[in-house]
Amino acid sequence: MAKPKIILDCDPGHDDAVAILLAVRHCEVLAITTVSGNAPLEMTTANALLMCQLAGLDIPVHAGADRPLLVPAAHAPRAHGATGLDGPPRPDVHLAAASDDAVGCIIETVRAHDDVWLVPVGPLTNIALAVRQAPDIVGRVAGISLMGGSVGLGNVTPTAEFNVWADPHAAQIVFAAGVPLVRMAGLNLTHQLCVGPDESAALRAQGGMVPEFVASLFDFYLAGYRERAGLDAAPMHDPCAVLAVTHPELFAFGARHVDVETAGELTRGMTVADERPGTDATPNCEVAYSIDAEPALKLIVGAVCSYD
Ligand code: BDR
Ligand code: CA
Repeated sequence: MAKPKIILDCDPGHDDAVAILLAVRHCEVLAITTVSGNAPLEMTTANALLMCQLAGLDIPVHAGADRPLLVPAAHAPRAHGATGLDGPPRPDVHLAAASDDAVGCIIETVRAHDDVWLVPVGPLTNIALAVRQAPDIVGRVAGISLMGGSVGLGNVTPTAEFNVWADPHAAQIVFAAGVPLVRMAGLNLTHQLCVGPDESAALRAQGGMVPEFVASLFDFYLAGYRERAGLDAAPMHDPCAVLAVTHPELFAFGARHVDVETAGELTRGMTVADERPGTDATPNCEVAYSIDAEPALKLIVGAVCSYD
């Protein structure tokens, strides 16, 4: 079967880096686009290029929005360090971005190819700008599979997940755009797919530049979860949005209407899913509720180990 064609829109980020490696093994990645999020745009772009360099990937990287639509830019150094990819020793990056027009790249790529999946795993700024500038792409995409939001607890605030909180207006535009198929991998789902010391050990046992680099990423990322939450396991958020395209049979989805709170004093960035039995709200989203974690983890570790 042909691999799904995707554009991976990301803000690397430890889990974004793993999502890149996973996506390349199971998809035809037409482009990687970057956005301000876990770190400033300059860093997230450099980090995407770094992953391409380490893994020997020939995929164009286009830099995108350097700030959210309306709110000030915010980053996540507590989870990802100042560089966005703290942990392993950082090699010099020799690759250069293909352009600084991620939005143009998204629009042109969707117009040029049938059935492209957009897979945003950072704040939704680029995607919102693209659907606003070129509404014709809404009906052309195969779907949007995003990591963001939560049906339940948040992480940045009690009610909001980072990607949606960081640009709530963009997220609202994307959920309301009328895209025929939107899949949402929120925190309620991604916390079911965690890596721990066993996965780091498996990557080290495999050896090779990429597995060892990712093992060190895991160690840094895990140490943060251990310190902040007392957990010996850390969620692989962003790979879930890739797997929802490549291996949807691992998930249980529920069709829901999802909207985004943009203004609430306590609830900015909350994804409000209408779960009322018998609601007459028309679903705009397939919310992922559960994932078969064991095979999903094998796919992630297997993908990383497939690089030398
Ligand atoms: C999301 O925020 C980022 O820190 C991660 O890369 C992920 O995309 C989780 O809330
Ligand atoms: Ca991310």
